Amino acid sequence: MNRTLLSTIALAISLAAAPAAAADSAAAEKIERGRYLVTISLCNDCHTPLVLGPNGPEPDRTRRLSGHPEQLVMPEAPRLGDGPWVGAMAGTLTAWSGPWGVSFTANLTPDPETGLGKWSEADFVATLRSGRHLGRGREILPPMPWKFIGQMTDDDLSAVFAYLQSLPPIRNRVPDPIPPVAAH
Ligand code: HEC
Repeated sequence: MNRTLLSTIALAISLAAAPAAAADSAAAEKIERGRYLVTISLCNDCHTPLVLGPNGPEPDRTRRLSGHPEQLVMPEAPRLGDGPWVGAMAGTLTAWSGPWGVSFTANLTPDPETGLGKWSEADFVATLRSGRHLGRGREILPPMPWKFIGQMTDDDLSAVFAYLQSLPPIRNRVPDPIPPVAAH
């Protein structure tokens, strides 16, 4: 093969690969933006369980964003009387008790059975904009701050969803919320 032919082939290959490489780097940038937004919007604060480390409570990185650990079965929530105290939470920050009953933070990893693996981006956006499961189901309980998170732009919500879907899936079935009557 002569040089010209070889360089023509090389050029053709690099031209064919260029759009794919550009798409890869755009996808990586979007995921990175999502990671940044998740970090500053405190999703980890509630959706990643805290464990006791050598320097006090720290996020359990092996359970990143996988919600209330199913093994941690919570006893009945404390009764707080008529206030001014209105709520209590688990040391993991993944179970919360208040006038709404008891809520457990959701598994945001892409596990298909116990997380968001079967959700589309449209499901995610509809949930956060409406405050209802999948945009049409039950109302999302406190302290999930959907009224604030739901004000992110379409691009930002799309990036957050892309990042969440890029996480390693963690199988963790979060319990259903407990209504106030049963909780007290
Ligand atoms: C202050 C605590 C808190 C913070 C911060 C928080 N969440 Fe939540 N989140 C919750 C709780 C509690 C639930 C479960 C509510 C329920 O069962 O109704 C929940 C549920 C969800 C759900 C599931 C809704 C459904 O219908 O299944 C999604 C999705 C979600 N959160 C996403 C996020 C994202 C993304 C962030 C960060 C941008 C975030 N959350 C930050 C507490 C929090």
